[in-house]
Amino acid sequence: MKYLKLIGFIILVAFVGIQLVPTALNKSEVDLTTDISEIENTSENIQILLSESCYDCHSNNTNYPWYIKIQPVAWFLEDHIKVGKAELNFNEWATYSSRRKRSKLKSIISQVEKDEMPLSSYTLIHREAKLTKSDKELIVRWANQRLDSINNN
Ligand code: HEC
Repeated sequence: MKYLKLIGFIILVAFVGIQLVPTALNKSEVDLTTDISEIENTSENIQILLSESCYDCHSNNTNYPWYIKIQPVAWFLEDHIKVGKAELNFNEWATYSSRRKRSKLKSIISQVEKDEMPLSSYTLIHREAKLTKSDKELIVRWANQRLDSINNN
């Protein structure tokens, strides 16, 4: 019993301790002129879906509700943001070549269809980011339309 209490105490101290370790926040001035919403024909519906479900990891600004600031959740998220942003940054869409845009749109379609995105570890705590069947259909239809329009250029 004594040991259990001690172990419990150590875990508690460690949990409180890691809260004090600073994490780099993904926050910066957004240049909306290069955002996908300015470049592609993006309805308000689609923009809301992408903002709510994807922008935390695929843009230059993350919304941080309190539960996402708790460690170790914040570390996991920081890592996902770093990798996610490097692969696809909706805020910097204008800087992508047509070829890259096409490849990202194809990838968006397959990731959303296969339920790979948004990451399940994220929707587990971030419930409102979960996409319904009709959300997914909307995104896929939109991405296919954008793909066609870039192909035809
Ligand atoms: C919690 C963070 C997170 C969220 C939220 C998220 N992603 Fe991702 N995304 C990642 C990470 C990390 C990767 C790279 C590793 C991987 O593929 O698993 C990635 C990769 C991708 C890729 C692959 C890019 C490529 O080059 O092929 C696409 C496309 C993508 N995400 C689309 C989306 C879309 C669309 C949404 C919203 C519906 C979304 N993601 C939400 C973290 C996230």
